[in-house]
This record gives sequence, structure tokens and C-alpha cells, in this order.
Amino acid sequence: MLFGKKKSVAGLDVGSSSIKMVELDGKMNSLNLVSLGFENLPDNTIVDGQIMELNVVSDVIQNVCNNHQITANQVVTGVSGHSVIIKNIVLPPMSREELEESIDWHAEEHIPYDLADVTLDYQITSETSDATQVLIAACKRERIDNIKQAIQLAGKQPVVIDVDTFALQNCYEINYNPDDSQIVTLLNIGASTMNVNIVKGTRSLFTRDITVGGSQFTDVLQRSLGLSFQQAEAVKRGVAEARDGIDESAIEPLISNVTEVVAMEIQKTFDFYRATSEDNEIVVQKILISGGGSKLAGLAQELSVKLELPVEVLDPFRNIKVDTRKFDPDYLSEIMPEMAVAVGLAVRGAELR
Ligand SMILES: Nc1ncnc2c1ncn2[C@@H]1O[C@H](COP(=O)(O)OP(=O)(O)OP(=O)(O)O)[C@@H](O)[C@H]1O
Ligand SMILES: [Mg+2]
Repeated sequence: MLFGKKKSVAGLDVGSSSIKMVELDGKMNSLNLVSLGFENLPDNTIVDGQIMELNVVSDVIQNVCNNHQITANQVVTGVSGHSVIIKNIVLPPMSREELEESIDWHAEEHIPYDLADVTLDYQITSETSDATQVLIAACKRERIDNIKQAIQLAGKQPVVIDVDTFALQNCYEINYNPDDSQIVTLLNIGASTMNVNIVKGTRSLFTRDITVGGSQFTDVLQRSLGLSFQQAEAVKRGVAEARDGIDESAIEPLISNVTEVVAMEIQKTFDFYRATSEDNEIVVQKILISGGGSKLAGLAQELSVKLELPVEVLDPFRNIKVDTRKFDPDYLSEIMPEMAVAVGLAVRGAELR
């Protein structure tokens, strides 16, 4: 195929509140944004990580592709939440063959599900003369089948099923080129899940997915103030008309209570990490925040105060060339937080070309 176009592979992030797609091309150190799409899903389409309405999801994927000229037939997608288990395990030194043969046996003790029900993957992260560090990732097979079905129904082929938290890390690496002295916490606050990934350079030290996110704020406002989902969403996003007739002093404490839970869960993650880590010297320098949930007014600042760490917004396009004649910079900066995982998935896709 002398002049044929290389097959492109898009990143497809099926979140519980919306679908995001990103297509990139170029070399790893000089990627270009080719296309980008973002559409909301109706409330309750995805519940507890499970796609309840396969047709709705596949229709929205098709709409995103049609409305944003996304032509890739192959996609990389990701999974997250409590169906996904990620562990760093330390094993004695062994050959690749020995590891391949024994990985199920080693993994069994770290995975709370029957191995027959999960898809398992692993990667050696460091090897010394007395230890092999292995990162294992397992996901319930029914969850993978569920997302694959929705994608296939949309006429697309899922070529890689990644993990959201690693896609987030890929997005960070490509945009920030971190060296080993940089220890950051990547925090993606979605609608229903929060992904926390403590990263040293390009190595993930600890990850945890927590089932708290932006929808918790909406739920509390909806229930406590007797609003519809749409009204509560608008109040949360600070839409002035939506706040008309609502006592401002009633909103603040409701939001603060959920912020408190979010901060506590992040703190708990740091504590879990310290309890399981052998290296107590490791100090997180900052938090890079993403996800639509992170756009809540004042949240980043509040987390910074509570966790006593600088909190910065992760820029998923920091090192990606964007043609401003094709993509409106204002729109792009508005949806930037939501696109982090999709960009990371698209980076995987671009690697496959
Ligand atoms: N301006 C805003 N202020 C407050 N919250 C916002 C704002 N914009 C979006 N959100 C919230 O962001 C969340 C959606 O973020 P995101 O798109 O990252 O989640 P998702 O990927 O659909 O969900 P998940 O990954 O948890 O399945 C929703 O809860 C939404 O209300
Ligand atoms: Mg998400």
C-alpha cells in the first residue's frame, strides 16, 4: 500500500455521563489532533459501571462519529471502577517463561474474584537480581463483554481494552515528559468514579478507583432541595437562572459535605499507599486534576487546602498540535478536563498505527 492512508485507531471513552472520542496522528513526540467528539448520555444509561442500554450507547457513539467526522473503525477503550483490580506485586527473580506459567497462581492471591471470571494482564515494571516487580490488572470479563458489545453494535471494532487510570497516565506522560524526580498524583474526577494514580516519573506506584464523583454532588442537591436531575445539575454548575428562588445558604453546606468526602477518600488513598509501600521517602509533589467533576467551582482550591498540596489542572493538549482553524480554542479549553482519559486512549491508538 504505497500511498494508502494508514489505518487510524481512535480513543473512545465511554463515561457514565458522556462519551468522548479523540483521534490523533503523528509520531509519539509530535502528535496532532485529528478529530474530537463529546456527547452526553441520558441519565441512568450506565449504572454502577454497567451499560444498561446498549442501544443508547451505540447510537451516541455513532452520533459522535458522524457529527465530528471520526472515520476510524478501530477503537481503544477503557474500563474503570471496582470491576478493575490493579496491584503492584513483588516476586522472586524468574525468567519470562516462568512468570508466564505462574502468573495466574501469583495473581490469585491478590484478586478478590474467581480467576475464571476475569481477564488478566500483567507487565514487568522493574527487575533486579533479587526481585521482579509486576503490575497486574484484572477486569471482570462480563464488564469487558458489555463494553465490547456496545462498541460492536455501533459498527466499530474494539482493538484494545485499556484501564482508564493508565490511559490518564499515558495522557500525562505524553504531555509532561516526566522524569524520575517527579512524583505526582493524577486525579480524574468523573461523574461516578474518581481515578487516583500516584506516579513517579513514568512508573505507577499506586492506583485506586473510588466510586465517588460529580454525580454525588448532583444527587445531594436533587434530593435535599427537591429538584429534577437537570435542575440540580444546573445549580451545581452555577447557572444563575437555575439558582433563582433557591436559598444560596442551603446550597453551600450540601456541596461542602460532598467535597469533604472527596478529600477524605483521596487522603485515605495516600494512607493506603504509605501503608503498603516500602519506600517512605516518597513524597507527592502535586496533584494534577482532570475529569468533568473537577470543574466544580472552588473544588480544586478546596482540595489543595485540605490535602496541603498544590492542585493544577492537567492539560491533555499541552504537547499535542491543535489546528485552531479546525478546533475552537475556547471550546477546547472548556472541555479539556473531560478529555484527559480519551486523549490517553487515543495515544494508545496512535501507537498501534
Ligand atoms: N462546570 C461544571 N461544574 C461542576 N461539575 C461539572 C461541570 N461540568 C461537568 N461537571 C460534572 O462532571 C461530571 C462528568 O465528568 P466526566 O465527563 O469526566 O465523567 P464521566 O467520564 O462521564 O464519568 P465516569 O468516568 O465517572 O464514568 C458530571 O458529574 C458533571 O456534572
Ligand atoms: Mg470518565
